[in-house]
Amino acid sequence: MTILFINGSPRQHGNTATLGERFLHNLPHTTIQLAAHDLHFVQDHRDTDLPQQDLTDDYEQVMASFAQADDIVLGTPVYWYGMTGQLKVFMDRWFDSYTNGFAFAGKRVYLLVVGADAPQTKALGITQAVQHSCEWLKMTFQGTATVTADGPNDVAAMTDLPASYWQLGAKLHAQN
Ligand SMILES: Cc1cc2nc3c(=O)[nH]c(=O)nc-3n(C[C@H](O)[C@H](O)[C@H](O)COP(=O)(O)O)c2cc1C
Repeated sequence: MTILFINGSPRQHGNTATLGERFLHNLPHTTIQLAAHDLHFVQDHRDTDLPQQDLTDDYEQVMASFAQADDIVLGTPVYWYGMTGQLKVFMDRWFDSYTNGFAFAGKRVYLLVVGADAPQTKALGITQAVQHSCEWLKMTFQGTATVTADGPNDVAAMTDLPASYWQLGAKLHAQN
């Protein structure tokens, strides 16, 4: 099975990046840093004759890796109680792929969330958004692991991680 980790944090070596690499330790995977890619805002061309597609940025390149993966790990820090702009812009573009028949169905999606201010209760909107999006695209949402951290090395320094992390990891390992 092929695993893809998509880090939505602008800190490419921060907590979300570290959490993702810990989560995937010993599992072959590819990592994509959204912040290292040029991703344009989605356009809504539904009421025009224009194609619902933008081939002038890195989106299709990222989706080529997405297409190869059976298991997709999405990671985001909490920004203003939601996901980062990087991840939101990327997910908005899924509408382009959906419109053009991209094969989302059956992919398994795992969500990693890192925040400083009680993210397990205050950042539930991120899980809702990803879960409902997965349902809409017929992907299988596997759940969320939420970790409280702030300084860029906090997750690296953690000797243990919360139960949600281990539960989600068990689901991933059951598939791989
Ligand atoms: C612009 C900005 C907004 C943030 N908003 C929140 C927030 O609403 N809730 C929260 O718990 N943490 C918030 N944080 C803290 C980050 O979620 C936290 O530092 C996290 O560990 C960063 O992860 P990273 O190292 O992967 O980027 C915010 C940080 C920044 C820079």
